[in-house]
Formats: sequence, structure tokens, C-alpha cells
Amino acid sequence: MPETTLLAIETSCDETSAAVIAETGDAARPWRLLSNVVASQAAIHREWGGVVPELASRQHLRDICGVVDQALETANVTFEDLGAVAVTQGPGLVGSLLVGVSFAKSLAWTYGLPLIPVHHLAGHIESLVLAHGELPLPAAVLVVSGGHTSLYLVSEPGRYALIGRTRDDAAGEAFDKVAKLLGLGYPGGPIIDKLAKTGNDRAFAFPLARMTHADRNQPSPTAPSGLLPPSVERRVDFSFSGLKTAVARVVAQARAADPRLSTLDPGFVSDIAASFQRVVVQALLDRSFEAAAWLGARSLGIAGGVSANSGLRAEAEARGAKAGLPVFVPPLSLSTDNAAMIGAAAMRKLRAGVTAGWDLNAQASLTL
Ligand code: KG4
Ligand code: ZN
Repeated sequence: MPETTLLAIETSCDETSAAVIAETGDAARPWRLLSNVVASQAAIHREWGGVVPELASRQHLRDICGVVDQALETANVTFEDLGAVAVTQGPGLVGSLLVGVSFAKSLAWTYGLPLIPVHHLAGHIESLVLAHGELPLPAAVLVVSGGHTSLYLVSEPGRYALIGRTRDDAAGEAFDKVAKLLGLGYPGGPIIDKLAKTGNDRAFAFPLARMTHADRNQPSPTAPSGLLPPSVERRVDFSFSGLKTAVARVVAQARAADPRLSTLDPGFVSDIAASFQRVVVQALLDRSFEAAAWLGARSLGIAGGVSANSGLRAEAEARGAKAGLPVFVPPLSLSTDNAAMIGAAAMRKLRAGVTAGWDLNAQASLTL
């Protein structure tokens, strides 16, 4: 089969993105990125302290034509050069997803091209392969974003088994909520990341949540049975809502101590940011490295918006070096939402012969 070039579209949340990606013919490094255009709506949602779904879908409508045009122009290709059109089907905000799905369907229909539906988290996982080539398998891959904190086992290319997930908030959501509590902007992750660099990460002893088999309400294991030893299979899940509450309590105490205070002391805010981030990083990495060992993984990948965090990257690298486990993170441009990663996941599906019918619909929730 000749090498294919495809156009990918991502509109699951508040980024309108289009990318052009081509096959290389090299099995070890299968795809080459020709363009990746992202129109971020962060400035619009910042005013409201979080993503407003109705505003998001309307902005996708305004941006999509220009973003697709620019992706093709940057890649120096025309619609006639394309072999397929790929789009994020879910999970995400349904109104936002619908814009991308409808646009991709229309394009594919018009040019007689196969339409490829992509799971957003498969995109985050494949961002690692797009950036680094095929990972040593089996790989444990942590997808950590604003909507998800999920750990997958990738046993062969394109095959993902869910091993652990958050029981409540996603890690990125915790970053965003803590930033809001501290009166910082949106999205909170990059702001906390920056402030944490100047704060004392031991100033506050925030709790590190851990699921154990001794829980009174024993959770059922997330991983398919047989993948993890029974003694640990209930331990791989994550939880961040208690940590968020602990931060809220410290902030409320500070405000109560001085009700005239209109803004919090910058040193106090940096100390909270640093202490909070240290606990999140520890929770994510403790579990991921343990699970990687239990699964006999030959590499660990960390993808999704929170993988942009400088503290997480540094600590992951240090632990990987110590454990002799290669650790992969995407470049910053492929960490937060983008269409390049959707194109990468779509190439796998195209080669596996998976395409969508014209009745393809957006799915707010979708399992991988
Ligand atoms: O993957 P993504 O762009 O969208 C989702 O699929 O959710 O992830 C966005 C999340 C937000 O919660 C944002 O605060 C977080 O990623 N994030 C970060 C950093 N950059 C983005 N969190 C921590 N540190 C960062 N540097
Ligand atoms: Zn994402």
C-alpha cells in the first residue's frame, strides 16, 4: 500500500486543531508531522474561570475553516493529496466534538476519502510514538489531562488495556481547581507549575491519597483480571479530590485569619503551589512506576496536558534513570490537546482497516 497523508481534526474541548501527517515507510518511526495548527480558546474561557461548553462550540465553528486551511497550507498539500480524514469522536464536550465530526464527515464525503474515528486518549498515547518512534513494549502509559488520569498497558502497537484510573477528579482538574481557589487564572496547570518553582514544597503536608485493598468499601479492580497480581490489582487507581479539599481548607483558614485580606500573600500562594504539585507528582509517579514493575513494562510513557508539568518531567526522568526504565514524554507542543496526535492514532486505525460510516456521531463519553 502506498504511503498515506492524512488530515486530522481535534475539537473535543477548547482547542480547535488540524494537522497533516504522513507515513514514512519506516516501521520504527512510522509517521512524519507536516503541520499542526492549534487555535486556543483559553483567553475566552479565562474570563469565566473554566471552559463554558456553549462558548466553546461556537468558537470552534468560527475557527475551524481557517485552522484547516492553515494546516494544509503549512504542510504544502491540497485536499487532492489526502488519503483520509480523521477526527476525534470522543470523549469530550459533545457540542465541541460535533463541530469537528460534522466538518470531517463533510470533507471526507466531498473528496471521497475514508473517515477515521479516533478516541481522544488513543491520540494522547500515540503522541509519544509520533515524537519518539515506537516505544519498547510492553509499555505502561499514563494519560494525565484536564479530563482524565488513566494508566494503560500497551502490549502491542495500537492495543490499549486500562489498568488504573482516577476515582474522582483528574489531576489536571485538581491543578485548575486549586489555581481557582488561590485566585490565579485559567488554565491553572501552567500557572501553578511556574509558581511552584519559587515556593517551598514542604511548607504544607498535604495528604497523599492511596487506594488499598484494605479500604472499607473495597473497590473493584480496574485492570482486566490476570494482568496484575491479585495482591496489588486494587491499588493502581488514583484520587485527587481529598487533596483539593485539603488545599481549600488551608486557604479558608488564611482568609479567616485576616478577613480584610483582598489578595493572598504571594509567598503563601507559591508555597501552596509547590506543596500541592509535589504531592500530585508523587501520587502519579508512585503508582505509575509500581504498576510498570508489576506489569513487566519495558518503558513508561506520560502524555496529556499535565505531562507538560516541569516538576513531573524532572522527577519522572530522575526516577526512570534510577529504576533503569526508559521514560518518554511528548514535546510541549504535543502535550496539550492537538490534532497531530489524533492523526497518529488514526494512522494505526487506517492500517488496521477501521473506518467510520456516514452515521458517525460525537460521543461525550467513550471507552478506550
Ligand atoms: O490534554 P489537555 O490539553 O486537555 C484535556 O484532554 O483535558 O489537558 C489540559 C490540562 C489542564 O487541566 C491544564 O491545567 C493542564 O492540562 N496543564 C498542566 C500544565 N499545562 C497544562 N498541568 C500542570 N502543569 C502544566 N505545565
Ligand atoms: Zn486531551
